[in-house]
Amino acid sequence: MASTPLPPASAPTSGNTQVSIDLGDRSYDILIGGGLLVADTFAGLPKSSKALIVTNTTVGPLYTAKLRAALVPHHKTVLDVELPDGEQYKDWPALNQIFTRLLEEAADRKTVLYALGGGVVGDMTGFAAACYMRGVPFVQVPTTLLAQVDSSVGGKTAINHPAGKNMIGAFYQPQRVICDLDTLDTLPQRELLAGLAEVIKYGPIADAEFLSWLEANMDKLLARDRASLMHAVKRSCEIKAWVVGQDEKESGLRAILNYGHTFGHAIEAGMGYGAWLHGEAVGCGMVMATDLSARLGLIDKATAQRIRTLIERTGLPVKGPDLGPDRYIELMQVDKKAEGGEIKFVVVGPLGQATTRSAPDALVRDVIAAHTR
Ligand code: NAD
Ligand code: GLY
Repeated sequence: MASTPLPPASAPTSGNTQVSIDLGDRSYDILIGGGLLVADTFAGLPKSSKALIVTNTTVGPLYTAKLRAALVPHHKTVLDVELPDGEQYKDWPALNQIFTRLLEEAADRKTVLYALGGGVVGDMTGFAAACYMRGVPFVQVPTTLLAQVDSSVGGKTAINHPAGKNMIGAFYQPQRVICDLDTLDTLPQRELLAGLAEVIKYGPIADAEFLSWLEANMDKLLARDRASLMHAVKRSCEIKAWVVGQDEKESGLRAILNYGHTFGHAIEAGMGYGAWLHGEAVGCGMVMATDLSARLGLIDKATAQRIRTLIERTGLPVKGPDLGPDRYIELMQVDKKAEGGEIKFVVVGPLGQATTRSAPDALVRDVIAAHTR
């Protein structure tokens, strides 16, 4: 799929900012900044008598009261439901908790759902919104770096199946995304690093300049410097909006956002959901996908090493678990990009561009052997 050129990064800003995602009548804004959990931020959204905040047992005690106060001017009744925390609960029983709450409260088809949490809460709330009464509006309020730079944007919603990650879901766009950087203050460092994996991803696949910026500013990001976080979230959202605006339902280009995910999803499913964080598995998967790109002759070894070094600098794991090559391959065959059992990998080359392709089995096995222990 031919793509339009990526717009250049917008100028750094000290105040709050926004990125728009252009999808015709499903277009929406991503608001990025501090102090966003206030009533004004939520003005102009679909009107409804009831609203449901979907969160989890970790994020709820931290932010539900604040979000509720911001929503009270807009809805007569603001309900909430706290799901169990963890990737292992991105499943049918937890999803059903949302439906049960909605039905117990006789929530009608105008009810707005608010996803308050990381990617797990966001993906599940979006899927619940897509299904409840065949579709109710929802708003993303992402509270992890990963969710602010990736999962809350673009309308992919899903739950896991024991046999494969994110296998049951729908494309369903939110009405608005509110990235309040203040919420990152309480995020554990391990989760920040997991989010950085999805930030780094955008460089090799779409924007070599952004990769250089990340190399120059990684120490500041690790120290949570606000201006650096602001730029990282904004540029990530700009790149994601550029991709999704051209290929909402992943008929081609959007697959590049899965750089590192084919190997990464195999790690997550193979280890049991929750053992490795999604971002950790993606970081390690990117090291593997980058090596595969080099072995296929698409980038040189120095470029592959450059990407690996940046991932390593964050403290993310760069060696995968030793599931054995057969198990990796078995798990990768249930990846959504696979066609007729043939695994498709996102490969980089030249730097700043990516494509999807199959690879010889022996080469894939070499990559797995080189990057697992
Ligand atoms: P997560 O949702 O599990 O959140 C990580 C942890 O941080 C959780 O324990 C959570 O309770 C906690 N947390 C969240 N916000 C916090 C805060 N502000 N302060 C303190 N603790 C906080 O994980 P994640 O990394 O945000 O998301 C991973 C999920 O996103 C995976 O399921 C992945 O498949 C999905 N994902 C989806 C897309 C998409 O396009 N839909 C893209 C990337 C990832
Ligand atoms: N995170 C992959 C996508 O949104 O397509």
